[in-house]
Amino acid sequence: MEKRRVAILISGRGSNMTALIEAAKAEDFPAGIVLVISNIAGAGGLTKAAESGIETATIESKPFGKDREAFERKLHETLVAHNIELVCLAGFLRLLTPWFVTRWDGRMLNIHPALLPSYRGLHTHERALADGVKIHGATVHFVVPEMDSGPIIMQGAVAVLDGDTPETLAARVLGVEHRIYPDALRLVAGGGTRIENGQCKTEASGSPDDTLISPAII
Ligand code: GAR
Repeated sequence: MEKRRVAILISGRGSNMTALIEAAKAEDFPAGIVLVISNIAGAGGLTKAAESGIETATIESKPFGKDREAFERKLHETLVAHNIELVCLAGFLRLLTPWFVTRWDGRMLNIHPALLPSYRGLHTHERALADGVKIHGATVHFVVPEMDSGPIIMQGAVAVLDGDTPETLAARVLGVEHRIYPDALRLVAGGGTRIENGQCKTEASGSPDDTLISPAII
């Protein structure tokens, strides 16, 4: 099976990156992680990727200052030089301009720690707790120029508990992130998604037990 060549872009510890790398080790996984790029020197994820035998690169965004496109041109050139077919943003904390995003249209995925379109942007867990929502979660979506928008590929939800803090909620959501990001990449890389009227349709089906009620009355 010919595997899609994937690059992961990170800025930090890279736990989603690690989940993708682990999943991609399966023989039947339709994508191979061939490159990890960080825009922050010394990001924790770089060491982990290197330990897995994956090529890493650091392209620091800071020296480019406000010249976002110059940074992105370098990023783009590096991806093209490695024959990358799909890009996964995994805790990549740098806004990308339309120049870059349109070049990777339909070929770039992001994971966001909220059930989009709720809680775009930062501090998603704090804001969900402040609103008192009972269900929260994470979303994998295709990247479009508007931040945290774009066709939704997959979402996973967790119950919000009365005693939750941003930290406990973040940890529970992160567990879901590590499940849905590999599954979403499997779908996309395997050709199991298509865009119709700006929405992502998939060949996956709902599970028979797909109701989450929170809080549950026992
Ligand atoms: C993850 O929770 C991811 O959803 C979030 O940053 C974290 C990175 O963790 N991304 C965003 O907030 C993007 N807007 P990781 O480096 O351990 O994968």
